[in-house]
Amino acid sequence: MLAIHTDRLLLRPFVGDDADFVFDVYSRWEVQRYIGAVPRVMASLSEAFDRIHAWQQLDDGVHGVWAVAEADSGKLLGTVLLKFIPASGSDLTVLPSGDTEIGWHFHPDAWGKGCASEAASAVLRHAFSQGLRRVVAVTNPLNLASQRVCERIGMSHEGLTDAYYNARCELFVGSAA
Ligand SMILES: CC(C)(COP(=O)(O)OP(=O)(O)OC[C@H]1O[C@@H](n2cnc3c(N)ncnc32)[C@H](O)[C@@H]1OP(=O)(O)O)[C@@H](O)C(=O)NCCC(=O)NCCS
Repeated sequence: MLAIHTDRLLLRPFVGDDADFVFDVYSRWEVQRYIGAVPRVMASLSEAFDRIHAWQQLDDGVHGVWAVAEADSGKLLGTVLLKFIPASGSDLTVLPSGDTEIGWHFHPDAWGKGCASEAASAVLRHAFSQGLRRVVAVTNPLNLASQRVCERIGMSHEGLTDAYYNARCELFVGSAA
């Protein structure tokens, strides 16, 4: 996976040393409350190591999971994911829908500064530059901040869908020019 640079940010692969940060982010209810059909917080540091390992397996040169850091200090801020999205009605872990999704999870200390939008926009550009024609994002209907990120990076709102994750979500679609 290649690193991605933006004005303020460095997007790079996760490494094992990032586990403390991953645990700090994903053990918080305010981060997890809108994620998944049944949200739950990460319970242990070992889960953070497992999560990083699973993310590393998703790297195929196009898809992957980036650690988002401040470019000047290296301080970690969050995660942007580009991965196959599981279809509803199936074993969510093994039967991808064929669509690629983009997602973002940031530490609350980093919220409200436009960093999620800046990082997500760069990953969407990367997706299209690598030949993807369509990228989806799904959010809990109550997750207005995430829906705003979708809009800010140019994705179109297509209404509610039950197609993914066995959950009713707002669907946003980004299309290559
Ligand atoms: C979603 C998330 C990444 C957004 O982070 P952020 O730092 O607020 O993102 P940005 O600053 O880039 O942009 C957020 C936009 O949403 C708006 N916003 C933030 N909170 C909002 C709220 N509660 N209601 C409505 N809009 C909101 C901001 O004003 C901004 O829009 P603007 O620039 O037009 O004013 C962050 O809230 C997060 O990590 N949440 C937990 C994980 C999560 O839910 N991820 C998405 C799963 S689908």
